[in-house]
Amino acid sequence: MAASDSIAKTYYLETFGCQMNVHDSEKVRGTLAARGYSQVEDPEAAGLVLYNTCSIRDKAEQKVLQRVATFKYQPNGRKFGILGCVAQHNGEALFESAPHVNLVCGSASYNQLPHLLERLENGENRVTGLSLDTDETFDQPQVERSSPHSAYITIIEGCDKNCSYCVVPFTRGPERSRSSESVMEEARRIAANGTGEITLLGQTVNSYRDPSGAGWSFARLLDEVGRVDGVRRVRFTTSHPRDFTPDIVEAIDGNPALCDWVHLPVQSGSSRVLAGMRRTYTRDEYLRVIEAIKAAKRDIVLSTDIIVGFPGETQRDFEETLSLVEQVDYAQMFSFKYSPRRGTDSVEMADPVPEAEKSRRLQVLQELQRRLQLRRNQSWIGRDDEVLVEGRREKFDQWHGHTAQNRVLNFSDPLGVAGASDLRGAYCKVRITAAGPNSLIGELVSIERKPSAALGLRVLQ
Ligand code: SAH
Ligand code: SF4
Ligand code: F3S
Repeated sequence: MAASDSIAKTYYLETFGCQMNVHDSEKVRGTLAARGYSQVEDPEAAGLVLYNTCSIRDKAEQKVLQRVATFKYQPNGRKFGILGCVAQHNGEALFESAPHVNLVCGSASYNQLPHLLERLENGENRVTGLSLDTDETFDQPQVERSSPHSAYITIIEGCDKNCSYCVVPFTRGPERSRSSESVMEEARRIAANGTGEITLLGQTVNSYRDPSGAGWSFARLLDEVGRVDGVRRVRFTTSHPRDFTPDIVEAIDGNPALCDWVHLPVQSGSSRVLAGMRRTYTRDEYLRVIEAIKAAKRDIVLSTDIIVGFPGETQRDFEETLSLVEQVDYAQMFSFKYSPRRGTDSVEMADPVPEAEKSRRLQVLQELQRRLQLRRNQSWIGRDDEVLVEGRREKFDQWHGHTAQNRVLNFSDPLGVAGASDLRGAYCKVRITAAGPNSLIGELVSIERKPSAALGLRVLQ
């Protein structure tokens, strides 16, 4: 039976996982819009329901599978699709475990989506896009972006690093870089539309290799994006320590549009564990990269990811992680308990550390990080920083946004500097008056740049 006419070309899309997935969903929305679909906020009102999924840890995958299993809205021929990393990792097995699934498509096959959608529209019930052997990147001109002020650009897809614990090489396929020309063209288009902040994305963003004749390095690309007219901030994530070359630090030093924040996951402070993880660097090599970043003229802040309880991690290994965290003094950390993933090499490794001990280590690490963040954030009290305003919390009479160094900053306007203006999209100078471990609080000093003319500075209703 075909979907009832009123919902046939409507879709509901829910996104799980990392920024690459968030941006992929923007591309999927663009593809759907180009085929005449409109988005709805309620799955019951949608003819096509899509989950863009994450399988990085077992918990993430279980959450998705449970949502898939309990998906009940399927009268009227409504179609149901699983996109992203769980789709790629579980493949056609999803049809067996959840017979109401109609589409299974991984991110490496999104360029096939128009064709796959057509097959669904023609009444097919089991459609897949699971090929990983693609040389093409998903260069999607019809991206439907969620924010007018901040935009993602994927510059490299996939990952070749093969860390022993990680599913990403299976779920996103081999590394494929976009040509510098196509990245620049997108950056110019975004900036001309009034968006001042651009984040360059890739699982190993700094492993970028320009496939075109121009042969730009990652550092060159970063610098050139920062020089595009109208671009005020450039971020990039995630960097791999092995490919973090000195020219990236030089580019940040030489171009104020490049944010003074680097996300450089270390995963562990123990060289023994790093070898088991196949991270391709030792503790000392990582710390040398950190030294080079700290020797920059600008004060570049660092953030990281850490896995505790990797198979065989001893108390001593864990203490090396604690000492590294203290030494680097990260501004932010994402820490996780090791999760064994099907198909990865580390599932075969002996893992004698009890679950309760892993939880204890995670807690100790997070407590240390909390202390370091509080100390760091409190050192900002009395100083001024610039924030890109993202929204407003009416209840607290406060605006909020991120600083260039990626800190969350909430601020009020006691002197009425902004009047009745809607500050969303403005870059504001704010004096910091208080600090917690996860955010800063401040007062508006001045508006440095209003939302671009293309977007207009609106008046609050
Ligand atoms: N490409 C990035 C990050 C990829 S995934 C990098 O190499 O750093 C984001 C984070 O999830 C990783 O940095 C790691 O800390 C965590 N992660 C990945 N696989 C994991 C696993 N099997 N168990 C626990 N954490 C994991
Ligand atoms: Fe996974 Fe390692 Fe690739 Fe990061 S670099 S995505 S952790 S395989
Ligand atoms: Fe998750 Fe896939 Fe990103 S596994 S973290 S959504 S690359």
